Amino acid sequence: MKHISIIGAGTMGNGIAHTFAQFDYKVSLIDVTKDSLDKGIATITRNLDRMVSKEKISEDDKKRTLANITTFTSIADGAKNADLVVEAATENEKIKLDIFRELDKVCPSEAILSSNTSSIPITKIAAVTNRPKQVIGMHFMNPVPIMKLVEIIRGYNTSDEVTKTVVDLSKNLGKVPTEVNDYPGFVANRILMPMINEAVETLYNNVAGVQEIDTVMKLGMAHPMGPLQLADFIGLDVCLSILEVMYDGFKNPKYAPCPLLVNMVRAGKLGVKSGEGFYDYRENKKAEKVSSQFDS
Ligand SMILES: NC(=O)c1ccc[n+]([C@@H]2O[C@H](COP(=O)([O-])OP(=O)(O)OC[C@H]3O[C@@H](n4cnc5c(N)ncnc54)[C@H](O)[C@@H]3O)[C@@H](O)[C@H]2O)c1
Repeated sequence: MKHISIIGAGTMGNGIAHTFAQFDYKVSLIDVTKDSLDKGIATITRNLDRMVSKEKISEDDKKRTLANITTFTSIADGAKNADLVVEAATENEKIKLDIFRELDKVCPSEAILSSNTSSIPITKIAAVTNRPKQVIGMHFMNPVPIMKLVEIIRGYNTSDEVTKTVVDLSKNLGKVPTEVNDYPGFVANRILMPMINEAVETLYNNVAGVQEIDTVMKLGMAHPMGPLQLADFIGLDVCLSILEVMYDGFKNPKYAPCPLLVNMVRAGKLGVKSGEGFYDYRENKKAEKVSSQFDS
C-alpha cells in the first residue's frame, strides 16, 4: 500500500489526504474543479501550520506532507495507480455510484475501493463494481487528523483479507479501526443521529432553548459539545440525509426527521458551512444563539 487516491477535497477528503500524506503515503487528491482542490490544499496547509505552531510537527514534516500530495481533476488520471481509493465525495447516492463505476474501470484490478460515506450502504456501492469483495467502508471522523476512530464497514461481500488490510492500514495512521456490519447508519450514526434528532424535537416542542439543551448535555452527560452544536458542525443537510436513509432503511418511524430540521435545511440554514444553523457563525457572532424563530 503506497499510492492512495482520495476522491473529494472537501471537509473530509482534505483531512483524509492530510493524514495519509503525513504518514508518508503518496496521495492523489481528486476533485471536480481546480478551485475545490486549491481550497482543500489551503485547508491542509493551514492545519499543518497550526500543528507546527503547537510544536506537534516540524516545518520539515509540513513540507514533506505537502510534497506527498498531488492534485487531479480527473478520476482516470488520479486513480490509475491506486493501491487504495478512499472516496469522500458529496453524500449523494448517484454521485457515489457513478464514481465507483468509473473507479472499477480505471483502477488496477487488485486495488481496494473504500468509501467514507456516512449512510449509503456499502453493499449497494459494491454492487456496481466487478470487485465487491474489494469494496469496504472507511468512515473517518471529523476532524480527520485528530479523531482516532475509523469505523470499518464490511459490506455483504467484503473479504476477510481486504478487511484485515484496511484495519492494518488504519492502525499505521495511528487510528483505532473498529469493525461493524453494513446496516443503515452503521454504528456511529445509528446512535448519534437519533440523539441529535431528539434534541431538535425538544427544541421544536419548546421544552428548552438551544443553549439550554446543549448545556444539559454538555454539563450533565459530559459530552464535549451539545447535540445542536454538533449538528451545526456536521451540517444539518448531512444529518437530515442520514436520518432519511435510516428511516427508509428500517421503515421505522423512530428515525423520522423532525420537521424543524427539515425546515431549516429548506431555508438554507445548514450550520457552520452556511454561516448559520442553531448558532450564528457569521463574523464575530460565533456560537451566538440564532434568534427567536427557532427557540422561542
Ligand atoms: N462532514 C462530516 O462531518 C463527515 C463525517 C464523516 C463522513 N462524512 C462523509 O464524507 C463524505 C464527504 O463529506 P464532506 O463533509 O467532506 O463533503 P464536502 O461537501 O465538504 O466535500 C465534498 C467534495 O466532493 C467533491 N465532489 C463531488 N462530486 C465529485 C466527483 N464526482 N468527483 C470528485 N469530487 C467530487 C465536491 O466538489 C466537494 O469538494 C460524505 O460521504 C459524508 O457523508 C462526512
